[in-house]
Amino acid sequence: MTSITTAACIGGGVIGGGWIARFLLAGIDVAVFDPHPEASRIVGEVLANAERAYGMLTGAPLPPRGKLTFCTTLEEAVAGADWIQESVPERLDLKRGVLNQIDAAAKPEALIGSSTSGLLPTDLQRDMKFPQRLFVAHPYNPVYLLPLVELVGGEKTSPATITAAMDRLVPIGMKGVHIAKEIEAFVGDRLLEALWREALWLIKDDICTVETLDDVIRYSFGLRWAQMGLFQTYRIAGGEAGMRHFLAQFGPCLAWPWTKLTDVVDLDDEFVEKIGQQSDEQAAGRSIRELERIRDENLVGILQTLKGSDGGKGWGAGKLLKDFEHTLWAAGAGTATALDPSQPLRLVDVKVSPAWVDYNSHMTEHRYLQVFGDTSDALLRLVGVDLAYVEAGHSYYTVETHIRNLGEAKLGQAIHATCQVLSADDKRLHVFHTIHDSISGAVIATGEHLLLHVDSVAGKTVAAPTEILAKIRAITDAHASLPVPEGVGRPVGQKR
Ligand SMILES: NC(=O)c1ccc[n+]([C@@H]2O[C@H](COP(=O)([O-])OP(=O)(O)OC[C@H]3O[C@@H](n4cnc5c(N)ncnc54)[C@H](O)[C@@H]3O)[C@@H](O)[C@H]2O)c1
Repeated sequence: MTSITTAACIGGGVIGGGWIARFLLAGIDVAVFDPHPEASRIVGEVLANAERAYGMLTGAPLPPRGKLTFCTTLEEAVAGADWIQESVPERLDLKRGVLNQIDAAAKPEALIGSSTSGLLPTDLQRDMKFPQRLFVAHPYNPVYLLPLVELVGGEKTSPATITAAMDRLVPIGMKGVHIAKEIEAFVGDRLLEALWREALWLIKDDICTVETLDDVIRYSFGLRWAQMGLFQTYRIAGGEAGMRHFLAQFGPCLAWPWTKLTDVVDLDDEFVEKIGQQSDEQAAGRSIRELERIRDENLVGILQTLKGSDGGKGWGAGKLLKDFEHTLWAAGAGTATALDPSQPLRLVDVKVSPAWVDYNSHMTEHRYLQVFGDTSDALLRLVGVDLAYVEAGHSYYTVETHIRNLGEAKLGQAIHATCQVLSADDKRLHVFHTIHDSISGAVIATGEHLLLHVDSVAGKTVAAPTEILAKIRAITDAHASLPVPEGVGRPVGQKR
């Protein structure tokens, strides 16, 4: 896994802004060139949304945000970059000109990705001096949350470029898929265009409104697509006989005259106005930024649910998120070690995610336990009980927990959890966690937990190894001089 050191983004609109946020939040410095007079405001707004979404997406420690520089020339922006992402408007002549300029000014070994939604890389690289490093890196909006990048090479793109690009997407939490042959619009936009063509006809012919059409998608197959795509969904739809049965049953219908896919709808003024009006009604006064925030909350919720799927192993985009978090935790271990051991350890910083709240937008009960569990996990990683240790057959299991809910955490609220180690011996680890509001510091909840070191294969408690005990003892000794937190050892129901 190789990391991008410095990125350059040429074009900072909807997609360029999303790339910029994705890079910066992965700790990568970004140099931007966009002649738009308000480029920095637009990028700033996308970045603010991205930071809000990441705060809700993960409790794993994000690296320090990369440095953002706006440059006055393209040459200045690309000079030091090892990944350059072009996201200028979708016009072949414009893109070619910009890519040739990038080609002339960039380091020869720099990778150059184009965000184009459908132009062929062979056409884009035609006049480049080093065309072997140009490829299509087609992302999806919002780039900071949706992980997919379609990687498409042109006739002159070297296979090593595609491999290198694929590799460099992993540390920024993205998934590159290599499209074997270049065709206009690649795979995703081909599919979307087919659906969109059909949808436009359905509106044009007054079969339904834009709202009804969106409802048909989002209350039904849209939910299926997010987690299993098309073919695996149809495999299940075929029942026990599976895919072959599904094809035999529904394949012949393709010859029926249902579709208008080959006709092109005329987007005349009247039709554009009709769609515009219906879309305004559907939005019910919500601004684009409001809709973006709702979209992001929903995507965060879906990604988190997918992360817990398949027996906790994670599924699809959720598995990718889980893997990404593992790398963040591993990289963040250094930061945790730098914590002041004489104070309760601040181990988890997170914003209350949309998937965590109940009907009144307050954090729901079991999420408190999740934050406490994450805090215990962070402590264990700190003392060497990491994923490799657990997979090798030993772990700490929580055997007793007492949670007190003293305040309320609300949707989007920044909270953090601290841990005070009360006592420990060779098997037992007695800890007291506190969830605070991150702005006021007010205590929202406390959790007292007893953990036991176990041989998880044999299914019994055993003494922890000396190197782990030494690290625990260092923290326990440092915490020994702290006052005993209010509420320790309190039985359930005791009067305050
Ligand atoms: N919007 C999407 O959903 C989406 C999804 C995937 C890919 N794309 C592709 O991404 C690219 C950008 O699309 P967008 O939606 O971000 O468009 P946009 O209009 O929001 O942004 C384009 C930006 O490029 C800037 N620009 C124009 N000329 C420039 C130049 N010579 N040098 C530097 N910057 C310049 C503009 O000022 C603008 O900020 C297109 O190729 C598009 O097909 C878009």
